[in-house]
Amino acid sequence: MSTDAMKQQLLAKIQDRSAVIGVIGLGYVGLPLAMEFVHAGFRVIGYDVSERVVDLLMAGSSHIQDVPAAQVREAVTSGSFVATAVESRLKECDAISIAVPTPLSKTRDPDMAYVLSAADAIARQAHPGLCVVLESTTYPGTTRELLQPRLEAMGLTVGTDIFVAFSPERVDPGNPVYQTKNTPKVVGGITPACVEVACALYASCIDTVVPVTSPEAAELVKLLENTFRAVNIGLVNEIAIMCDKLGVDVWEVINAAATKPFGFMKFTPGPGIGGHCIPLDPHYLAWKMRTLNYKTRFIDLASEINSHMPEWVVQKVSDALNDVRKAVRGSRVLVLGVAYKRDIDDVRESPALDVIRLLEERGAHVEYYDPFVAEFREEGHVRKGVELSDEMLRWADAVVIITDHKSMDYQRVVDHAAIVVDTRNVTAGLTPGRATIVPLASRTRSA
Ligand SMILES: NC(=O)c1ccc[n+]([C@@H]2O[C@H](COP(=O)([O-])OP(=O)(O)OC[C@H]3O[C@@H](n4cnc5c(N)ncnc54)[C@H](O)[C@@H]3O)[C@@H](O)[C@H]2O)c1
Repeated sequence: MSTDAMKQQLLAKIQDRSAVIGVIGLGYVGLPLAMEFVHAGFRVIGYDVSERVVDLLMAGSSHIQDVPAAQVREAVTSGSFVATAVESRLKECDAISIAVPTPLSKTRDPDMAYVLSAADAIARQAHPGLCVVLESTTYPGTTRELLQPRLEAMGLTVGTDIFVAFSPERVDPGNPVYQTKNTPKVVGGITPACVEVACALYASCIDTVVPVTSPEAAELVKLLENTFRAVNIGLVNEIAIMCDKLGVDVWEVINAAATKPFGFMKFTPGPGIGGHCIPLDPHYLAWKMRTLNYKTRFIDLASEINSHMPEWVVQKVSDALNDVRKAVRGSRVLVLGVAYKRDIDDVRESPALDVIRLLEERGAHVEYYDPFVAEFREEGHVRKGVELSDEMLRWADAVVIITDHKSMDYQRVVDHAAIVVDTRNVTAGLTPGRATIVPLASRTRSA
């Protein structure tokens, strides 16, 4: 069959929903995407190497907060979704999206092992007419230099026999407004036919599709978005440090600046950055640029400032304890919130973990409470949260607010705790209570 005939056949199958869609990696990105394809009327095969994830989904549960279990159950019982760890099921697919992890190695280099293993799995099961789209965040060049040769290893040619594109995932876990469907999707294909097919695929289930002329452009779009965030958070964290030295309230400055209706975008300081994206993605770009003998100064500086913030918070705790003649060693500290951001249950790269570690290294007894995280595993051991009670708040010599979950009753915290180090400005405007409030930046004040 000619390339054009294959393309027309696949476009027709996408159009009438007879195409079978594969999603590799059923995590924060892959599972919502799989559900969008189901919702659009496709039969979806979700392939994940984790038997635990597969069993859970096939039992009608969901491990992803943004995907209700009822939605998974309905998709499984109706036969429109199957989760499997059996690689050969990929043979049935007409199009496959890859949403596997892209972490950093210990030396902060890209760890492409998951992408390579997914690519090899597809290559073993590929057939002419297949469309493959990489969604995992990665450095510019990955789709062409890494994915394409792996897929072609079995004799298929990209642009002739199979269609290959990159389309960055932009999911924002816990965002009540923007989810997979209504977040525009950027798509860059290796050839014009590749981009045409991949755009048609995503247009079937996502409101707006934005084609770009190459996979490299699409790869860089994602890195620009997240580098933009990392750099601006770094800037505002440094402004917070400056405000502290100047004795100026950083929140007042930021909120007043944000009244400017043009030319300013509000970012807020905090205890550091977390999650699988902002702390990691800019390093993918920095790594790639190092291979081209270019030093990414903005990325490096933002990373230095942001990664220093947990130390800054611990210094605030230490100073506040010192003010009441207490040492960190032997003090009791209650950390409120360990998720890396508000209203989610994800602790990956969370600055709370650094704050806890630094406090414990200095000899503090640390407990935590998080309404979304009953327990978490770190370096092989499980840490369990405590229940939040008035007694628990009074038990602590210092309470540190790291994550500003909306359901938290901060008035209660201020009423019962002795010292509250508030890294998120959630105690502003509360009725003064027992606690001495220590903001992230600027002088100690009472609520
Ligand atoms: N989480 C986010 O908010 C977010 C947002 C945008 C982009 N991303 C990017 O999307 C990608 C996926 O991230 P995530 O948060 O969904 O990861 P995740 O850890 O939640 O899920 C990844 C899944 O892939 C599975 N997996 C790993 N290797 C596999 C393989 N070879 N074959 C099949 N399954 C495999 C794992 O078992 C896991 O279930 C990453 O590149 C990430 O940077 C994540």
